[in-house]
Amino acid sequence: MKKKVLIIGANGFTGRRILDDLARNQSYQVTGCSLHEDICPRSADYHFIRTDICDNEAVSSLFETVQPDVVVNTSALSVPDYCETHHEEADAINITAVAHLAELCQIHHSRLIHLSTDFVFSGNTNRLYSEEDTPDPVNYYGYTKLEGEKQIASLCTNYAIVRIVVVYGASLPGQHGNILQLVANRLRNNEEVFVVSDQWRTPTYVGDVSQGVEKLINHHHNGIYHICGSDCLTIADIAHQVADVLGLNRTLIRPVTTKEMNEKTPRPHFSGLSIEKARRELRYQPHTLEEGIRRMFGL
Ligand SMILES: NC(=O)c1ccc[n+]([C@@H]2O[C@H](COP(=O)([O-])OP(=O)(O)OC[C@H]3O[C@@H](n4cnc5c(N)ncnc54)[C@H](OP(=O)(O)O)[C@@H]3O)[C@@H](O)[C@H]2O)c1
Repeated sequence: MKKKVLIIGANGFTGRRILDDLARNQSYQVTGCSLHEDICPRSADYHFIRTDICDNEAVSSLFETVQPDVVVNTSALSVPDYCETHHEEADAINITAVAHLAELCQIHHSRLIHLSTDFVFSGNTNRLYSEEDTPDPVNYYGYTKLEGEKQIASLCTNYAIVRIVVVYGASLPGQHGNILQLVANRLRNNEEVFVVSDQWRTPTYVGDVSQGVEKLINHHHNGIYHICGSDCLTIADIAHQVADVLGLNRTLIRPVTTKEMNEKTPRPHFSGLSIEKARRELRYQPHTLEEGIRRMFGL
């Protein structure tokens, strides 16, 4: 029998990739849900039910209709600068709505796969974080995502929390872009681009998030999984790789320190995540950054 999978946040960058990949797979019966109408209503492979996850009644009725075996929550208020100044909105989507989803998953015996972030960590380190390390977020977005994780761990008995990092890939019209796309656009226009040279990340190809989520749908352990790339490098290094792989002018890239960038919202200095657990337990195998860039730009 096909597994019934409900993907929440299905218009989002990561959610849409997961929706498309699962909908193509005959093992799943897929329903997408998002705040707005389906951004790409062309497929007969999935159902789409527009729902606000902050509306408890609507979400309860969504569960009654879909009766999901698995719920993948990719929805979030995920812009750190916005969360820093909109606490109530961030709490509602990233904490309260997540707790309600967790309760409904428990009632309906659904497995919950929930996307979270490297920003739960402080970044005061110089080694990759494991799932055992203690989170200590430095901004409000990270705080709300960590609180969402805690709600799930306390309310659900069948769940996986998937921490991902700087997700990249080709985006659809209407979706937000990513730093790799921004760098490519600027360099192609012969414009300078300023990027931080002292913040380390393990960037994640969007197809690898989808790969990891599918493995976790069919895996029965509970807990946290780090799903990201295996290359750990600074944002400036990422920009240089984009230039090199695409054959663009790398001298237009201007590396600056976090201090010089002077952003209002603090960000972790080093938030590379270790994927040893995912490799061992799920046989997760991410693309290298170079392979991911090639896929993203269709090379
Ligand atoms: N992107 C990254 O680099 C990154 C890095 C680390 C962690 N993450 C985490 O990964 C997840 C996915 O990130 P993303 O960047 O792919 O997300 P995204 O593109 O910002 O998409 C999030 C989606 O959530 C939906 N949404 C927001 N509020 C909603 C509501 N009240 N009810 C229903 N749907 C709602 C939006 O739907 P509409 O479009 O229909 O309004 C949006 O498309 C998030 O949990 C994020 O915290 C992302």
